[in-house]
Amino acid sequence: MRTSRAALTVAVTSLALALTACGQSGEGGSKEEKKGGEGSTVGIAMPTKSSERWIADGRNMVAEFKKLGYKTDLQYGEDDVDQQVSQIENMITKGVDVLVVASIDGRALGDVLGQAADQGIKVISYDRLILGTPNVDYYASFDNEKVGVLQATYIIDKLGLKDGGGDEGPFTIELFAGSPDDNNTRYFFQGAWKTLKPYIDRKQLVVKSGQTKLDQITTLRWDGGTAQRRMDDLLTKSYGSEDVDAVLSPYDGISIGILSALKSDGYGTSAKPYPIVTGQDAEIASVKSIVAGRQTQTVFKDFRTLAKQAAQMADAVLTDKKPEVNDDKTYDNEKKVVPAFLLDPVSVDKANYQSVLVDSGYFKASDLK
Ligand code: GAL
Repeated sequence: MRTSRAALTVAVTSLALALTACGQSGEGGSKEEKKGGEGSTVGIAMPTKSSERWIADGRNMVAEFKKLGYKTDLQYGEDDVDQQVSQIENMITKGVDVLVVASIDGRALGDVLGQAADQGIKVISYDRLILGTPNVDYYASFDNEKVGVLQATYIIDKLGLKDGGGDEGPFTIELFAGSPDDNNTRYFFQGAWKTLKPYIDRKQLVVKSGQTKLDQITTLRWDGGTAQRRMDDLLTKSYGSEDVDAVLSPYDGISIGILSALKSDGYGTSAKPYPIVTGQDAEIASVKSIVAGRQTQTVFKDFRTLAKQAAQMADAVLTDKKPEVNDDKTYDNEKKVVPAFLLDPVSVDKANYQSVLVDSGYFKASDLK
């Protein structure tokens, strides 16, 4: 349990008074003096504003930290790795007390986080695991492998393969993965692949392009336009007059690109309906698309809860408590296993979006009009 805010305020105030009495307070005071509770500043480095989710993550975290009495410095790297590095450098120079980082390139932050460690600044890896550095203290995310399992299971169920006798199909499928520099990408694909593979082995599912290896199917920076071009290419080269029955898409922004390519190819009519297209993040445009019968599924991750979890972790770190974790073995960043708190993702389609997204207050019904 967290110390109550009132108790913390009293503790911090008495500490400040004690330090003032010793003549050590003021602007240039030591880091110990500012540690924890009210008045400390949290540096929040987010990857991009090009996706609705990261805007919500930033906003949610600022609100959560404010409730706990912290100030925040929120920066977006606009998918430019160097920009993110220099934003974090500036935060360190300005003297933030803790960092919460959702990386653009998981391997690009080793040097800058070395500088953070030299200043005694702890680091929470947010949603995406930062790789190749010992200077990551905790990780707040979702069960990333389960995201892929949910997407693939949805495809299997929808095609009627799961409860069949094993001779249904063959159905055609194409596979898309996320950005190669994002550690989540391989977890999402790992979950999806282990679920789809038995059906691919039995030829009930056929990847007509033959592209099943992760390095053949990634989408740099999760870009919808890049996915659209690849889907155009797949339809032209591997399908011709034949139809694709399902597309594994790891993220809503990619699903939108895939659906545009399908539409240009004549899909979306009663004679040629859209294939099953999965997604992730429950972004408004994709939920609307699901309601309208274009995208089929998405995976909802409650970013409000993630922000709260990250704020609790940072607060615990700053007040010398042990942050709550529920996984201490899955997330090896090649230098250490980073203790993690993983939240549960939920599969959403037209049948349950109302109860999962609207009745829960995540969206207002009017957001989806
Ligand atoms: C991943 C994240 C997904 C999605 C994607 C693109 O790291 O886990 O939920 O947001 O980035 O932004």
